[in-house]
Amino acid sequence: MSAASPDHPVNPADSADPASPGPASPAPAHAPALALTGVTGYLGGTVARRLAEAGTPLRLLARRPQAAPRVPGSCALPITYSDTPRVRAVLEGVRTLLMVSAHESPSRVEEHRGLISAARAAGVEHVVYTSFYGASTEAVFTLSRDHALTEEALAASGMEVTILRDNFYTDFFVDLCTQGGEIRGPAGQGVCSTVTRADVAEVAAAVLSDPGRWRGRVLDLTGPEDLSMEDITRAVSRRLGRPVPYVDQTLEEAYATRRAWPAEQWEYDAWVSTYTAVRDGEQSGVSGAVEEVLGRGPQSLEDYLDRALTSPPADGSR
Ligand SMILES: NC(=O)c1ccc[n+]([C@@H]2O[C@H](COP(=O)([O-])OP(=O)(O)OC[C@H]3O[C@@H](n4cnc5c(N)ncnc54)[C@H](OP(=O)(O)O)[C@@H]3O)[C@@H](O)[C@H]2O)c1
Repeated sequence: MSAASPDHPVNPADSADPASPGPASPAPAHAPALALTGVTGYLGGTVARRLAEAGTPLRLLARRPQAAPRVPGSCALPITYSDTPRVRAVLEGVRTLLMVSAHESPSRVEEHRGLISAARAAGVEHVVYTSFYGASTEAVFTLSRDHALTEEALAASGMEVTILRDNFYTDFFVDLCTQGGEIRGPAGQGVCSTVTRADVAEVAAAVLSDPGRWRGRVLDLTGPEDLSMEDITRAVSRRLGRPVPYVDQTLEEAYATRRAWPAEQWEYDAWVSTYTAVRDGEQSGVSGAVEEVLGRGPQSLEDYLDRALTSPPADGSR
């Protein structure tokens, strides 16, 4: 953090290594009771800005608090997903915690368990967690298993919990089309009720505005329609005015093309199983949860494309 301001005070803890086991740097006595992680990313950052616009004071928790959004009434404090005296001290006085799932890694579940353990020890009452649609330890999508194990740890913690189970982001598949020029994977004709990242952020902000109402709920966050990979490439092709193919691969082809990127086996498995989960129907089905929380239906693919892409000017066709 570069400078202090009344809206974004420098806390002595900012300069400390959040992973250090101690000595603990307690949160300031006035630190807000609503805490958000992931605030340096899209989801947590968007939720922070929405809540701050509504006048809600926030405790912003980040590995790099200096990169947290500068929003009125907030204080930014350092955190890692681990159970150390410093992390417990930073969580002291928090009533409700938005726990954004960590980046994918072999240690992700352990990191989540650490944060959950620290939150419980610090007296946090309610955790809102960004899980995954259909989270299961048996899921085809390998990363879905991390979320199921995290949900289990939350259930065992005794804290109140709200689970936001977002499906694959619409944004992700559209980015594949616009940045990679195609969707390529073994999804067959399977369908996925993709949800926009903006809808997930809006739902999270609404839940955190009235957390008591959503205690104990598992909210399946999907879009309004089941889409095949071909549905998505066809819609993007129309918008771009050029063909964007869907290449339905065999498993062997999927691994072979991905091995062009140096990565670990668990990453190849995660990338390929994104598509096999769709092929096998794990990501299908439409939920009413976005409408229940927001009072309006979820954004469709076409709604998303209206904002993300402009139509070709020549004939105006879509
Ligand atoms: N449903 C889907 O299709 C889908 C797609 C992508 C991601 N996701 C999940 O949704 C989450 C939020 O999405 P997003 O779009 O906001 O992602 P994002 O923009 O990459 O932001 C992730 C945030 O989480 C923080 N973070 C990640 N790993 C952490 C760790 N080990 N310890 C502490 N903080 C950590 C990051 O902090 P730093 O700035 O310090 O890295 C960042 O603030 C992702 O983390 C991922 O688990 C879901």
